[in-house]
Amino acid sequence: MFFLLILFSFLAFIHSTTAATAAEWRSRSIYQVLTDRYALPAGADPSACKPEALTWCGGTWNTIRENLDYIQNAGFTAIWTSPINQNYEGPRTVYGDPYHGYWIQDATQLNSRFGTAEDLKALSAELHRRDMYLMVDVVVNNVMATSTNPDYSKYMFKDKSQYHPYCPVVWGDRQSELNCWLGDQNVTLPDVNTQDAQVQAVYGNWIENLVKEYSIDGLRIDAAKHVNSDFWGTFCAKAGAFCMGEVFGDDITLASQYQGPGTLDSILNYPVYDALVKAFKIPGNADTAALARAHDAVKTQLKDATVLGNFLENHDLPRWHNLSVDPQSLYNAMVFNFMSDGIPVVYYGQEQSFSGAADPMNREPLWPSGYKNTTTYQLITTLNKLRNFMIKSSDWLTSPSAVISTTPVGISIMKGNVVSVMTTIGSPPQNVSMGVYTPFPNNTPLTDILSCKQLVVGSNRTITVEYSLGGHPSVLVPSALLTGSGLCGNSPNVSTSPRGNNVNHSGASAMVSKHNPALIIFFALFFGLVTLLS
Ligand SMILES: *[C@@H]1O[C@H](CO)[C@@H](O)[C@H](O)[C@H]1NC(C)=O
Ligand SMILES: *[C@@H]1O[C@H](CO)[C@@H](O)[C@H](O)[C@H]1NC(C)=O
Ligand SMILES: *[C@@H]1O[C@H](CO)[C@@H](O)[C@H](O)[C@H]1NC(C)=O
Ligand SMILES: *[C@@H]1O[C@H](CO)[C@@H](O)[C@H](O)[C@H]1NC(C)=O
Ligand SMILES: *[C@@H]1O[C@H](CO)[C@@H](O)[C@H](O)[C@H]1NC(C)=O
Ligand SMILES: *[C@@H]1O[C@H](CO)[C@@H](O)[C@H](O)[C@H]1NC(C)=O
Ligand SMILES: *[C@@H]1O[C@H](CO)[C@@H](O)[C@H](O)[C@H]1NC(C)=O
Repeated sequence: MFFLLILFSFLAFIHSTTAATAAEWRSRSIYQVLTDRYALPAGADPSACKPEALTWCGGTWNTIRENLDYIQNAGFTAIWTSPINQNYEGPRTVYGDPYHGYWIQDATQLNSRFGTAEDLKALSAELHRRDMYLMVDVVVNNVMATSTNPDYSKYMFKDKSQYHPYCPVVWGDRQSELNCWLGDQNVTLPDVNTQDAQVQAVYGNWIENLVKEYSIDGLRIDAAKHVNSDFWGTFCAKAGAFCMGEVFGDDITLASQYQGPGTLDSILNYPVYDALVKAFKIPGNADTAALARAHDAVKTQLKDATVLGNFLENHDLPRWHNLSVDPQSLYNAMVFNFMSDGIPVVYYGQEQSFSGAADPMNREPLWPSGYKNTTTYQLITTLNKLRNFMIKSSDWLTSPSAVISTTPVGISIMKGNVVSVMTTIGSPPQNVSMGVYTPFPNNTPLTDILSCKQLVVGSNRTITVEYSLGGHPSVLVPSALLTGSGLCGNSPNVSTSPRGNNVNHSGASAMVSKHNPALIIFFALFFGLVTLLS
């Protein structure tokens, strides 16, 4: 009896911890897809999808699964998909149809527009076979309705008392932001009462089962700042998966309440996003000092900058090229995101230089691009390749990034042994340069992994990057450290998966390898018990 009790509690322990942790996610690189817009099934009309039509274009979990090479070949080790749960199914609203997946109706069901439970499991299994992680978006703060007095029987929470009473959000008033309803009178977003203990228990069981059922490795949490931060601690513990929340805006003090024990593992790095725009957007203020301040503030005021989600675009923001047409502005900003602390996140289509404005024009179908191997795709591939390699070959991930200089034309940072030099001048050549003081000894040979040019650290440990061919970024690594990297003429080592993440999710053997210490304790207990009883 006692033995069975131990056995069952142990099995429960194994089961609740199969999803990936923050430490495992830290090494990942994420490609964000809107399920409806990533890839078409065979035979569909490739010219039919118009973002302004605000309706479904036909992408599914199967079409993501069938087109993972494009993502994996660029070096990504995880995907983030739009929400997977059932959406509003009534007449078309003034804001169109829920092609984006964020208009939750019954969270206990899957969104049949995107496929079946088997399809989602097949996507999850295929990602794991490739040693990639699955992050899904979840909407917890609210459901969707078309009035302020909806029929609650359609939702997971069926009682009016499980929602806050209707009130429109007054922005800047935190109580209102937490408890009032997002949306407007046309599309209301009834605010779930996340302070209610029974609601918390139902949500806890729901997320625990969802993560287990579909072998989800991580969650992106919509509108996280519209829920009291302490709700997330319990919710994420029940999920047993990495939680990255959306805390929109550049208020670092508010953001800091949403990362750490008792709340989320991570948030999307909006403070640095805003500063990247201020620094690199052309035309713009080239405010590299503001970027340095944001980088340092995030590092000191947030719990762990190395697991934040670094991005330049998403489904809520204008595409980078809508803000700033010059391609070098994008390349320089992108280097900052990949080579500083944090998990790089690239929104599908950025690699194809999409240029749509805000919602809905930033949700273009990807297929008209032809999934080409563009200059941006190649830059991303190179950055992922270096990052994946540095993670495997050094303590790069946990070495904090530091700003080493800001000048009127740029900013340079260092993380581990990688010095990245970025400029704000854009494509037109200029007779200017960036001098950077490094910790490398004089005469150290360095390789710029983006151009494969060699340079040598000059006197007094300085390096100089000049822009007579235009404002390109440089990513400088001591040449001796690139052996095995597959970069700039170095042949690649055979295994390329990140250190400590060779987790095989496809069967029981994976759990055994991942929970070795626990298993040893279990067998020790088991044999101890047998000895005791015999
Ligand atoms: C949405 O509702 C508001 C009233 O709350 C109205 O003024 C507005 O025109 C509506 N929007 C559309 C697109 O119909
Ligand atoms: C920004 O997006 C809008 C709407 O899609 C478009 O009309 C405009 O041309 C875009 N701007 C650039 C610079 O691409
Ligand atoms: C993209 O093009 C580059 C340069 O020609 C090449 O090295 C790389 O292998 C290509 N990537 C893919 C996925 O085809
Ligand atoms: C790459 O392979 C070489 C030779 O086998 C080995 O010395 C080196 O440590 C490897 N590097 C990594 C990062 O695995
Ligand atoms: C660039 O600037 C330097 C220093 O001001 C000057 O000596 C040099 O002639 C300039 N070169 C060109 C091509 O303008
Ligand atoms: C070397 O560079 C550092 C940083 O720019 C500076 O503080 C120092 O004075 C320099 N030393 C010499 C000898 O030039
Ligand atoms: C994962 O495990 C399964 C079953 O044990 C095996 O067939 C598969 O080859 C493994 N995949 C990797 C990448 O090791």
